[in-house]
Amino acid sequence: MRQAHRKTALVTGANSGLGKAVALALAAEGARVGMVARDRARGAAALAEIQTATGNVDLHLFVADLADQTSLRALAESVLARFDRLHLLVNNAGTAYPARRLSPDGLECALAVNHLAPFRLTQLLLDRLQSSAPARIVNVGTRIEAAMNVEDLNWERRPYRSMQGYAPSKLGNLHFTFELARRLRGSGVTVNAVFPGVFRSNLGGTDGAQGVFWKSVAALFGWAIPAPEQAARRVLYLANAPELEGVSGQYFGHRKTLRAPAQARDPETNRRLWQISERLTGVDVPSPRPPEDARCFAAPPV
Ligand SMILES: NC(=O)c1ccc[n+]([C@@H]2O[C@H](COP(=O)([O-])OP(=O)(O)OC[C@H]3O[C@@H](n4cnc5c(N)ncnc54)[C@H](OP(=O)(O)O)[C@@H]3O)[C@@H](O)[C@H]2O)c1
Repeated sequence: MRQAHRKTALVTGANSGLGKAVALALAAEGARVGMVARDRARGAAALAEIQTATGNVDLHLFVADLADQTSLRALAESVLARFDRLHLLVNNAGTAYPARRLSPDGLECALAVNHLAPFRLTQLLLDRLQSSAPARIVNVGTRIEAAMNVEDLNWERRPYRSMQGYAPSKLGNLHFTFELARRLRGSGVTVNAVFPGVFRSNLGGTDGAQGVFWKSVAALFGWAIPAPEQAARRVLYLANAPELEGVSGQYFGHRKTLRAPAQARDPETNRRLWQISERLTGVDVPSPRPPEDARCFAAPPV
């Protein structure tokens, strides 16, 4: 293992799939890696596996439920307390739900985890990224292109179906990337989005979104679907490539830029979504905690 490279990185959703593969590769490079997981036992198991595989002992587990704004703030505080430098933030965690569920803050869960969590976490860590510049932010998006309904982001006025909730919440990653890049111009911190391709994963499995059909497809044809390690190469390219120094506000596939859907390329919509997201995450107004509502996750983190 090379130790000269003292990059400090934080990866969300690092106990499974793409996030785990990215954390492993960064650990193998000799980076200090913060691994965010919502379940302590699963997070610790992934960390131990990566430690054994790479010999890197500078791995740190952070337990947080990204659907919960209070947990998100506590996560940022722990990261800031433990890492005096932060050169790379990989907003990877993502999920899908079979039905509309609400977070403790009253936010639809897929919106909360897939769009609002990276939006808020990045801002809470931004000063540290800026003081560690050059630094990079990589947002993991998807190619399922469904427009966000900015008039009803929280799904209060429409019927909800799993994919119809997942796809627009992931488009939020592109809106966020483009507007953040504009705001970060000249700061030494770059932000890009990546479509990692389709790969084997547990996406939505923990939250009950994988029905019998998808489980059967995965069981029968899983061997033909690329492994997360392959998808991780795309993320690592954005994280490491020297030729991407200073490149920001782009959407990448495999080492090439992709054309984002028209809605995400509209600066006015991006600004508007930013303002709404600020309101929903309580940047302006402290977010109320409604009574014991539905939880986003099947098993609460310990
Ligand atoms: N798989 C694909 O083909 C594909 C294609 C395009 C884009 N993507 C994107 O790739 C990213 C990684 O997904 P994956 O396929 O690797 O799925 P995965 O194996 O299920 O990994 C997702 C990670 O996010 C974590 N997570 C979910 N909800 C969370 C919450 N509330 N708080 C904290 N962590 C939470 C999961 O934790 P648990 O283990 O506790 O559930 C898991 O560690 C996602 O952003 C996804 O949208 C995937």
